[in-house]
Amino acid sequence: MPKKSSAKPVPQPGSSDFIVVSNRLPVDRVSSEDSDAGWRRSPGGLVTALAPVMASRDGAWVGWHGAPDEVLEPFHHENMDLIPVALSADELELYYEGFSNSTLWPLYHDVIAPPEFHRTWWDAYRTVNQRFAEAAAGAAAQGATVWVQDYQLQLVPRLLRRLRPDLRIGFFNHIPFPPPEIFAQLPWRREIISGLLDADLIGFQRASDTANFLRSARRFVGAGVKAPRVQLKDDDGNPAHIAQAAPFPISIDVAQIQELAARPDVIARAKQIREDLGNPKTILLGVDRLDYTKGITHRLKAYGELLTDGTLTVEDAALIQVASPSREGVESYRLLRDEVDGMVGRLNGQFDTIQNTAVRYLHHSYPVEEMVALYLAADVMLVTALRDGMNLVAKEYVAARASNTGALVLSEFAGAADQLKSALLVNPHDIDGLKATIMRAVHLPRTEAARRMRAMRRQIVTHDVQRWSEDFLSTLQNGTRQE
Ligand code: F6P
Repeated sequence: MPKKSSAKPVPQPGSSDFIVVSNRLPVDRVSSEDSDAGWRRSPGGLVTALAPVMASRDGAWVGWHGAPDEVLEPFHHENMDLIPVALSADELELYYEGFSNSTLWPLYHDVIAPPEFHRTWWDAYRTVNQRFAEAAAGAAAQGATVWVQDYQLQLVPRLLRRLRPDLRIGFFNHIPFPPPEIFAQLPWRREIISGLLDADLIGFQRASDTANFLRSARRFVGAGVKAPRVQLKDDDGNPAHIAQAAPFPISIDVAQIQELAARPDVIARAKQIREDLGNPKTILLGVDRLDYTKGITHRLKAYGELLTDGTLTVEDAALIQVASPSREGVESYRLLRDEVDGMVGRLNGQFDTIQNTAVRYLHHSYPVEEMVALYLAADVMLVTALRDGMNLVAKEYVAARASNTGALVLSEFAGAADQLKSALLVNPHDIDGLKATIMRAVHLPRTEAARRMRAMRRQIVTHDVQRWSEDFLSTLQNGTRQE
């Protein structure tokens, strides 16, 4: 039963000491039987990490509530004040599907798909960023801390600083930041860099993302860079605001995954999954949003070739591919869905037997309990992203494997490769290399698997999402990083 929003008074303007700003609010709408709508907290590490900070600091979260053309008043839910930002259907098309996900997303992911540049999309991006900045400015108490999240809102630090110079402003980019040679394509590159530089602290996933940003700051707005400090000049060329840019690799709610992985019903479900697949010797697993950055087609190609040349058989191995629906209004995502549907259909048509299937393809989202059961069932986890800011699935798999068994095949182009150095690292473009690494994972000796998993678990257990948020917020507060 979804928890109803509590009767606590709605957040008062100007009363919040700590504000998170993100494209989406951390709640999903649920309709109960009497059709009275309620809200449920969205799954995910970010809200788990920030909920305690929200509760202790009179916090508020500013974001879109998920329905176009609907204006909602601020409300209170599970110790969080939520401030909905309205978006029209047109704005969703131009700002979200357009500039955010058809310009910035492909540009920031190494132009795997060609980015499109449209002035109408840019105008909508500016308008919507202004609206988010105004909502945050209206909610913030004097001297409050505001933490802006992700690529959809890169202009908010500057717009907010203009409205409220008293605030401490942080920004975290969840996706990669491209090299200046690629970023240079963006007609509004100066505006984006300047938009970010009015934050006090700008966080990235990887050291390489941070370096890319600093090079762009120097090149496109002439900022003075002495890492981690980066200084803007005002219109007369005088030194102005100083920001800091540094890597803060995000993580997962380790305790939640570990608790689930130890629960008898989840363990029983993992067994059941294995049985339902006909007890193959090896279960391989892929879990992704259906996104062209995730390298799903590369994975299927490699796996298909292993079946074709007889290195694997469907009696020995089964691949479960969970691909959750994503951004279905965007053309490149619709095309990818058709491509993946086609590849899976061909593989299954060619290799399935009455008892066994080559690929169990699931185009759904699942609750976290089912995901953890899948992690427990999987002998080999395949993360073959062509470019990924972090990839939290890789970290969740490791957190779930308390028995120190199982193998993680991990793309070197995912941010997680910086932390999970004992994974079997691959270049997913190299199909022969990917095939060889998949087979290495399938036949990984138990002792080597245990050694690798133990090393990765040590990293994950000591670096959870709680630590990530504390690290970012204390650096934002103190101006320097506490090691
Ligand atoms: O990784 C960037 C991100 O915006 C995540 O924060 C989010 O989970 C995912 O992409 C999907 O986002 P959306 O469905 O809002 O486009």
